[in-house]
Amino acid sequence: MSPDDLKALVRSIPDFPKPGILFRDVTTLMSDGPGFAAAVAMLAQRVEAAGAQAIAGIEARGFIFGAAVAAHCGVGFIPVRKPGKLPVPVLAIDYALEYGTDTLEVDPGAIADGARIVLMDDLIATGGTAMAALELIRQAGGIVEEALFLVDLPELGGASRLREAGVAVEALLDFP
Ligand code: PRP
Ligand code: HPA
Repeated sequence: MSPDDLKALVRSIPDFPKPGILFRDVTTLMSDGPGFAAAVAMLAQRVEAAGAQAIAGIEARGFIFGAAVAAHCGVGFIPVRKPGKLPVPVLAIDYALEYGTDTLEVDPGAIADGARIVLMDDLIATGGTAMAALELIRQAGGIVEEALFLVDLPELGGASRLREAGVAVEALLDFP
């Protein structure tokens, strides 16, 4: 399956969740068995090339792709969670979204000091979410040299923000 085939499986919904936003919906790619398997295999190749010891995935859609890729590669999965879900003292950070604000939390005990971690999410837009997750993982002692996404919305600048923070960014699909 080619990247163009995968791109055709992403549904575009105008004015969701707010007027003026063209929402790229990856749930239609996930529900297509061959498409989901191809996307996971392509993402896994990049994780293996990076020599990562673990994948940190961002709630919620980053869990779906991140966990599937981690299992494919035989590496651990670290959940970067929305607030109030982890049953231990957490590192927490507030961040701005394309629409609204939120908080992310991580269990610092899940990240070995100096571990090479690939950051993963389904999509990067403004980069607020990924930058917050990067900060948390670095605070916990993890090394993040690579971030991986199914979809990049390059015009929103998130990938550039991550690169400025010293992270190599790869995405399977770009939507201008
Ligand atoms: C979406 C997406 C990314 C983030 C990208 O998640 O899955 O995590 O927004 O936006 P940004 O680059 O502008 O920060 P959302 O907050 O909608 O949460 P969900 O995965 O729980 O639906
Ligand atoms: N699709 C999915 N998630 C998102 C988007 C989008 O277009 N923008 C910000 N988060």
